[in-house]
Amino acid sequence: MKKREIKIEVEQLTLDDLNESEFELVKCAKSQTYKSYAPYSKFNVGAAILLDNGEIVCGSNQENVAFPSGLCAERTAAFYAHSKFPDAKFRTIAIAARGTDGMPLPEPISPCGACRQSLLQYELLAESPVAVLLVGKDYIYRLPSVSSLLPLAFTSL
Ligand code: THU
Repeated sequence: MKKREIKIEVEQLTLDDLNESEFELVKCAKSQTYKSYAPYSKFNVGAAILLDNGEIVCGSNQENVAFPSGLCAERTAAFYAHSKFPDAKFRTIAIAARGTDGMPLPEPISPCGACRQSLLQYELLAESPVAVLLVGKDYIYRLPSVSSLLPLAFTSL
């Protein structure tokens, strides 16, 4: 029997540690939380994706009275980005949220499993790592890639 340990690299940052484009992306993700449609959960999520053509594409969670028909902010943004700019590669994604009290979450938000798998698709298409910024009020986590968020991912049929 062989044991293997899978580690992920996470940097804990403040806003001051971000470069200009990361700062802008975080700002977009935060402001997107105000465009979220979440009448049921009252949990407002915003995502912003920087593409290699310099465009930033944003999305927010969109809920539905038939609950499973709604969509998370990350997938709303990713699907929009790739439909609008099918040839562009994803570079970085920032994700922010406000909780049911309407306040920014103190700790970084972490995407659900389905969003991780969906985002991984665009990292594979980009053929280079897509950095991830998980935004909290008090600090930000920076991960080097989507695959680091989804170890042992399903990647091929
Ligand atoms: N949600 C997101 O948009 N992204 C996440 O990473 C986690 C959850 C949404 C789905 C639903 O509208 C609400 O947050 C509560 O789960």
